[in-house]
Amino acid sequence: MSISTDFADLRDKVVVLTGGASGIGASTVRLFHSHGAHVVFGDLALEAGSALVASLSTSSPTSSASPKVTFVPTNTAIHADVVRLFKTALALHGRVDHAVACAGVLTPGADFFALDQNVKSVELNEPDTTTLDVNLKGSMYFARVALVYLRHVPAQENADPAEVQRDGNDGRRLEGAEIDRSLTLIASDMPFIGVAQAPVYQVSKMGVLELMRVLRPLFQSPLSGQCLSPNGQGERRPKIQIRVNAVCPSLAATPMVGGLSEAWQGAGLPINTPEMVGQVILGLAACPESAVGGGNTKKAHGMALEVVGGEAWDIEEGLESSMGTWLGERGRQTVLGARQLFKGMGERVWEAP
Ligand SMILES: NC(=O)c1ccc[n+]([C@@H]2O[C@H](COP(=O)([O-])OP(=O)(O)OC[C@H]3O[C@@H](n4cnc5c(N)ncnc54)[C@H](O)[C@@H]3O)[C@@H](O)[C@H]2O)c1
Repeated sequence: MSISTDFADLRDKVVVLTGGASGIGASTVRLFHSHGAHVVFGDLALEAGSALVASLSTSSPTSSASPKVTFVPTNTAIHADVVRLFKTALALHGRVDHAVACAGVLTPGADFFALDQNVKSVELNEPDTTTLDVNLKGSMYFARVALVYLRHVPAQENADPAEVQRDGNDGRRLEGAEIDRSLTLIASDMPFIGVAQAPVYQVSKMGVLELMRVLRPLFQSPLSGQCLSPNGQGERRPKIQIRVNAVCPSLAATPMVGGLSEAWQGAGLPINTPEMVGQVILGLAACPESAVGGGNTKKAHGMALEVVGGEAWDIEEGLESSMGTWLGERGRQTVLGARQLFKGMGERVWEAP
């Protein structure tokens, strides 16, 4: 499967991102900016966030036509901070096209389940839950707010939906086209390795993968945009397709993993650069369709992309097609039956492409 590297459609798009001051997030901010998107990013790291904005404003001459990068001090584990981040983007640019939840922390967390714990110490030492708060709760807050702002339609889009959808090649208007928007979550392939090296981190990242899974059936089909204008009654509501995906990078050489990069490469394992992961994130935002081989494409929605040495493929596709092997035939039949049952009850059920 290949992810698009044609990023022409990103010009003038508005991107909201967390964790943009370092590593994968910072590379992704630079990449979006270099392809003409406006980026509003949040992070806890005030100095690094401001320095990134300064470096990008000196690298491209400031003119009304150049893409704008804005840093908003944000703690993604605080709901009001996440709302402020999106509010800033809306106030500056009038809409949000793509959202990327990249902020994360990796504290070893081994003491959470320390084997030398006893009945006294387990009572006295409350565990540190920062990793859960940032990685899992923070991603859930981000997704919650993002999915509202991604559906928000400014008054001018409401007046003429065709105005805002243009053909990627020549700028022609596409009459009646859906507006394409996306949310990308960052999980990890760490939970698949089977060590307990960073238990809290691993649990948080498995939670992020499940977050993508619970959201994908909700946004399987286009939804009507929402408008807050007081005279919104009777206005046209363009259809909006929000695509939700997860990226599960294998090791990437960033400050988060420190010296593990050398040991990883020493063991002959392929490593990602932060830019490689950033390219995959851009591909998901830029291209509503992914190539799946044989000249076919599928909607880039509901995927969990493993990224190894810059190559990406969809884990979910393999899980779905091999369900009888890993769940057993009886388990597979039960899952398929349960999907039908819930569908009959009027629930939105994920339909794998
Ligand atoms: N590096 C890897 O090997 C790897 C592999 C898989 C997944 N990931 C994930 O990729 C994402 C980016 O990680 P990275 O490797 O670039 O690490 P990084 O440490 O270089 O960057 C993480 C950024 O998140 C910010 N951040 C931390 N807590 C925050 C909070 N509460 N609110 C806002 N911002 C906060 C940090 O200040 C930092 O700028 C993380 O979600 C991480 O779990 C990384």
